[in-house]
Amino acid sequence: MNQALIATTYTGLPRMPEVVAKGKPLPCMQCHLANGGSHPESAAIAGLTVNYIMEQVHAFRDGERADVRTGRMVQVAKIISEKDLKEAAEY
Ligand code: HEC
Repeated sequence: MNQALIATTYTGLPRMPEVVAKGKPLPCMQCHLANGGSHPESAAIAGLTVNYIMEQVHAFRDGERADVRTGRMVQVAKIISEKDLKEAAEY
């Protein structure tokens, strides 16, 4: 059984978008977990609004948001499509 299936089967979370479960270079859930609770070093994103999430990922992409931990988030932000970002943000 894959990670995404385990997460949705045992937690009652909604069906996970492809980019959250298997996105490149790393899926969102690898750092932010299936429920958005995140590892301590990655910001918790559960409960944030769709617009806020999309704005922040655009800021990472455009170099408007930079900090010591930002590097890997920028890699994700630079290659994610708007469609995938919207799906991930809604999830
Ligand atoms: C390699 C690990 C990693 C992956 C994969 C990753 N993130 Fe992040 N994310 C981080 C880290 C670390 C931060 C905190 C960066 C900072 O504040 O400088 C962050 C921050 C964020 C924030 C800002 C939260 C806030 O409170 O402002 C959002 C939104 C976000 N990520 C969404 C996503 C989405 C959507 C995906 C999948 C498309 C994703 N992340 C994939 C590590 C990751």
